[in-house]
This record gives sequence, C-alpha cells and structure tokens, in this order.
Amino acid sequence: MEIKAAKKEEVKKGKFIAFEGIDGSGKSTQIALLADRLKQSGIRCYPTMEPTDSPIGSLIHQVMTGRMKMDNRVIAALFAADRLDHLLNDIDGILHKINEGITVLTDRYYFSSYAYHSVDMPMEWVIKANEQSSEILRPAVTVFIDVDPDTALERIAKNRFRQELYEKKSRLVKVRENYERAFGLLEKEENYVIIDGSQTKERIAGMVWDAVKGYFD
Ligand code: ADP
Ligand code: TYD
Repeated sequence: MEIKAAKKEEVKKGKFIAFEGIDGSGKSTQIALLADRLKQSGIRCYPTMEPTDSPIGSLIHQVMTGRMKMDNRVIAALFAADRLDHLLNDIDGILHKINEGITVLTDRYYFSSYAYHSVDMPMEWVIKANEQSSEILRPAVTVFIDVDPDTALERIAKNRFRQELYEKKSRLVKVRENYERAFGLLEKEENYVIIDGSQTKERIAGMVWDAVKGYFD
C-alpha cells in the first residue's frame, strides 16, 4: 500500500540583507529606497534595525543617550542579547519573517558590534560574544556604506539636535577602521560589498541595487 506523506507546500525563504556604516552614513535612507524598489517588484520586505525597540533595546537607548551608565562589556553584551532577541522572538523575529518568505533588511547587525565595541575591547572578544547570532543567521550580503567621519557628522548636524554617545569624530574614525579590520578578518566566512557613500542618494541606491539584485532572480 502506498503511504502518502502530507506534503506541506514549501515557502521560499526570504533573503536577509544587513546594512552597515558609521552613524550618518546613509543606511536608513538606502534601506527605505531599497524597500520601495523591492515592494514595487512584488517582493515582500521588512525593514528593521538594531538596537531594536524591545525591552533590551530600550535599555540600550538609555545608555546611548547618557541616561544610564554601564561598563563597556555590559553594553556589548546587551547589544548581543538584543540581536538574539531580534533573530529569535516569536512576534516579529527575523527568523520568523524569513521563514514566511519575507525579505528582511536590517539597519545594523553583528558587524556594528565588531566595529563599535572593539574601540574599547579586543575584536576577538566581541566576535565571540556574537557567535550565536553568526551561527544562527549570516546575511546573504552585508552592504557597507563607506563615508568619511567628517561627511557623516555634517549630515548628522544638519538633521538632528542631539548627538549620541558614539557620534564623536575621533570615535567614528576608529569605528571606520574597525569595520575595515573586521571585513579583512572575516573575508572567508562573510559576503560583503563596500559602497562609496559620498555620492548622491540616487547613485548609491543604484549601486546597492546592483549589489543585491542577483539574490532576487
Ligand atoms: P544612518 O541611518 O546611517 O545614520 P541616514 O540615512 O539617517 O544615516 O542619513 C543621515 C542624514 O544624511 C539624513 O538626514 C539623510 O537625509 C542624509 N543623507 C543620507 N544619504 C545622503 C547622501 N548620499 N548625500 C547627502 N545626504 C545624505
Ligand atoms: P542609532 O541612532 O539607533 O543608529 P544610527 O546612528 O545608525 O542611525 O544608534 C545606534 C548606535 O549604536 C550607533 O552609534 C551604533 C551603536 N551600536 C553599537 O555600538 N553596537 C551595536 O552592536 C549596534 C547594533 C549599534
């Protein structure tokens, strides 16, 4: 007798794309442009960001705005925990979304931790602290929008009234160098593209599209 297994129709997984760059580099602008383009092509898409708006994320926001003080190692661990919750939570977690066939575009992921926290700590420590996330889900591609800190700070000054903890030039110089170092260290395991972010929003959007369109063929 032939036994027929009930076959669940397989949903094609959504893609996971991370955007990285120093503060003010233009990540959220490019995510919005890419999300519009994907939606116009009929691709379901969910833009998100880290730190998140979860309870862990709101603790982080209090630290970033100087309302709360914490040891740098604790801050780095909070970001790692926020990231795991971002991936795993049942309500709007990234894994849940991609399993439903939705493409997720995140404004920052573990490369932000590597770049920002290794200003104060060894990068190897930060990579280890985020090992769970990298094992659970690596981005199909990480898009790094590269701008020099002067340009980024000018953009921030034009559009915001307050500066956050890490938005100081000397720090952003180190963060940018750390991104470069992290990309070099993880060249074999990670897929990334570096895009010149000093150009117009439209030109950058064109380069971002060229970098990601192959994932949607
Ligand atoms: P991020 O998310 O990386 O902090 P944003 O996308 O919020 O950066 O951009 C910071 C500011 O710079 C915003 O006011 C945005 O309108 C502006 N901006 C973004 N991209 C460009 C660009 N290519 N040229 C000039 N200004 C830009
Ligand atoms: P936010 O204002 O939310 O983002 P952005 O500047 O990209 O618009 O600030 C996030 C800050 O948190 C930013 O300075 C980078 C920092 N950060 C870390 O230090 N570690 C991390 O793991 C992440 C995701 C962000």
